[in-house]
Formats: sequence, structure tokens, C-alpha cells
Amino acid sequence: MVQLRLVAAAVAAGLLPTVTSAIGLHEAALAAGLEYFGSATDNGELSDSAYLTQLDNTADFGQITPGNSQKWDSTEPSQGSFSFTNGDVIADLADSNGQYLRCHTLVWHNQLPSWVTSGSWTNATLTAALRNHITNVVTHYKGRCIHWDVVNEALNEDGTYRTNIFYTTIGESYIPIAFAAAAAADPDVKLYYNDYNLEYGGSKAAGAQRIVQLVQNAGVKIDGVGLQAHFEVGTVPSRSSLVSVLNGFIALGVEVAYTEADVRIQLPTSATTLAQQAVDFGNLVGSCVDTAPDCVGFTIWDWTDKYSWVPSTFSGYGAALPWDENYVKKPAYNGLLAGLGAATSSSASATATSTTLTTTTTTSSSATSTSTGTAAHWGQCGGNGWTGPTACASPWTCTVINAWYSQCL
Ligand code: G3I
Repeated sequence: MVQLRLVAAAVAAGLLPTVTSAIGLHEAALAAGLEYFGSATDNGELSDSAYLTQLDNTADFGQITPGNSQKWDSTEPSQGSFSFTNGDVIADLADSNGQYLRCHTLVWHNQLPSWVTSGSWTNATLTAALRNHITNVVTHYKGRCIHWDVVNEALNEDGTYRTNIFYTTIGESYIPIAFAAAAAADPDVKLYYNDYNLEYGGSKAAGAQRIVQLVQNAGVKIDGVGLQAHFEVGTVPSRSSLVSVLNGFIALGVEVAYTEADVRIQLPTSATTLAQQAVDFGNLVGSCVDTAPDCVGFTIWDWTDKYSWVPSTFSGYGAALPWDENYVKKPAYNGLLAGLGAATSSSASATATSTTLTTTTTTSSSATSTSTGTAAHWGQCGGNGWTGPTACASPWTCTVINAWYSQCL
């Protein structure tokens, strides 16, 4: 991790005269002032060696999040009986790769075991069970997580509290109770409220601001708000509007992060929708850059369409991530690099003094390059509007992916 930061800082400062391949998403994020670019993952996928190879690629991913294995049904399937086996696999993977671990999630209405949802609770007994769950899970992972999503999706779309077993039994104070228990178990981990559809501002974002103040007014620590960023293509707000929403949280004294980003497309995809998806991802990550260092990082909800949650939830939709089901980068990858202010191709020659990074506010779908050299493996080598290199470094071949994007494969 330290090594990556040094490389990125050196690249940003122009101290590395020659870069022979385009930098990755995490490297670009560091250079843009973020702490990380990351991906969610899940235990079942880790037996796929090609998948694991890319997940382990710290040029792209400096952070991972377990998509399921730290949730209540996994960690405390029966009352007082804790299981950390699957969560530990992902924590160990983060350790061995030198990646940050975002921990997800302690209190959520979903993926609760039936002993919680069907229990006969009083305010006192459920509060005790809630505290016991959080204390055990956070203590187990103490020192290993950079963030905990302490409370997840506590709001309805109109900003009122979602009806769940905790709210109906304990009232809104379940939220500061949860944050207090997490803070007591690990005083150093950053504690987040995490939700979707906050990115539009409006009533739901106002509800999340109310939650931040509820916790603060209780004298309890809350460090951040996670904006999940689950979108349909074409519905992502403008970069400046996203910045305004992020600043609304930052003004309360908390940091922000995009925690579960994906941009789903109605299938089949087209060159137009893939290009729009690249713009959407660029605007999202660009708004994080614009509010760094208060916006600390950007996580996609897994990296390949092969393992996205979207098709099973939104019938007829998919293709929500920057890599397709065959692990080929889509235009969205370059859209992310563009939003991070990074060029996408290799630099010109061994004697070049320029770096692959440029500072830019572009929101276009593909990063531009002034390089006249060859593109490296995975680099862009063509497509509508592409002005970068059209040849690939040996032994790679420039392969047309779609009208907007050719790639060295
Ligand atoms: O583990 C069982 C397996 O034993 C069984 O054979 C299989 C059959 O359906 O189901 C497996 O469980 C699935 C689990 O993912 C693990 O793959 C559940 O059915 C499935 O519902 C569950 O979906 C997860 C979803 O949360 C649940 O709401 C997704 O993987 C996960 O990506 C998704 O993540 C959430 C975030 O935590 C919060 N924000 C929204 C986001 C997307 O829904």
C-alpha cells in the first residue's frame, strides 16, 4: 500500500520520467487525492482464478468490501453463535494483497436471520442483542477495517425511517446505540451510515443528514456517509450536482465515499448506452475527486458483469460494471480513468518526460491521450473520437470491442 502511494505520488509529481503502461484505477485515484479505488467481492467468486487475478491487481483495486460475508445472517446465524469463516477469507485476502478492507454491514433490515426478524423482542432485549452483535463482530475485526457500515439503508425514499424490527422495537435511538457500540469495540475504525439514492439530494439525502446529526447530538462518533451509487444508465446527476450533494454531508463534519457503485443498462447494450455509462461513471468518480480529501474513495459493487447482483434483481438489466462477463474492459473503465483525471494509454517513448497523468475536468466518455506511441496490454487503441495510439505493444492486438472502444488484447 505504501509502495503504491509512493509510486502514485511520484507519478503525479512528474518524478517518474517514463511510464510504460497506463496506470490503473487505484493508482489514478491516489494521484487524484483519494485514499483508494476498490471493488466488492464475494466468497463464491474467489475460486475463479481469472477473477481472483484481477481482484488481486492492486493497480486497479486498493480496497475490497465483502459483499455478503460480514452481514448478520453470516456472522450470527443463531443467537450468540458467531461465525467469521467467510468474512475472514476476504479480510485475509485484503491483508495479503495490501488492500484496505471496508467492512459491511452491521445493522440492516435485509439478510437478517429469522431469530432476529421473528423474535419476541422488547426494547431492552433487542437493544441487548443489537449491542452484543455489534460488539462481537467489530471486536473480531478490530484493527482490520478502515470503515464499518454501521447502519445500512435505514431510510425510505421520502427520508422517513424505514420500518424494520429495530425501528419498530427501539425507535430511532437504535441508530446512535449501534454507532456507540461500534465505537466502543474499535475506537479507531471509521464509522459510516450507508444508503442508496442519496446522490439525488432531496428528501432522502436530508434524512441521511438528519441521521448524522442524530448521532452527533447523542455525543456519539460518526465519521462518514456512504453513498452506494446504484444507478440506471443516464440517470446519474451531473458532476456539479453530485458535488453539491457530497458537500451537504461534508458540511456536517463527516467524510463521504461512494461505496457500491454500478450503472445498470437495459439489455442488450449498445454503443450509445455503453458510452453513456462511461460518462456516468466518470461523473460519479469525478465528483469524489472534486471533494477530496473529504471524499475518500470509490468502490464498485464487484468489478465484472459476471458476478453483478443486478441481473437477478432488475429483470432485463445488466452490464452494470466496468468489465464485461468475459473480463474485457468496457468504455466505463476509461470513463472512470477520465473522471480521475488520468490518461488511458502508455506514454510516448523511453525518453519522454511527460507522465500518463493529466489534470482535467473532462466528463467525456473516454480519456484522451496525446501519446503517439503504442498502447499497452488492456489499453485503448481505437474507437470513435479516440486520438491516442492505434497500435499495441507486442504481442497484443488491437481488437474492436464496439464502435467506441478498441482494446489491446
Ligand atoms: O448463499 C446462498 C446460497 O447458499 C444459495 O444457494 C443461493 C440461492 O439463491 O443464495 C445464496 O445467497 C444469496 C447471497 O446474495 C449470496 O450470494 C442470496 O440469495 C442473495 O439474495 C444475496 O444477494 C445479495 C444482496 O445484497 C441481498 O440483499 C447480493 O449478493 C449483494 O451484492 C447485495 O448487496 C447489497 C448491499 O449489501 C447493500 N446495498 C445494496 C446491495 C445490492 O443489493
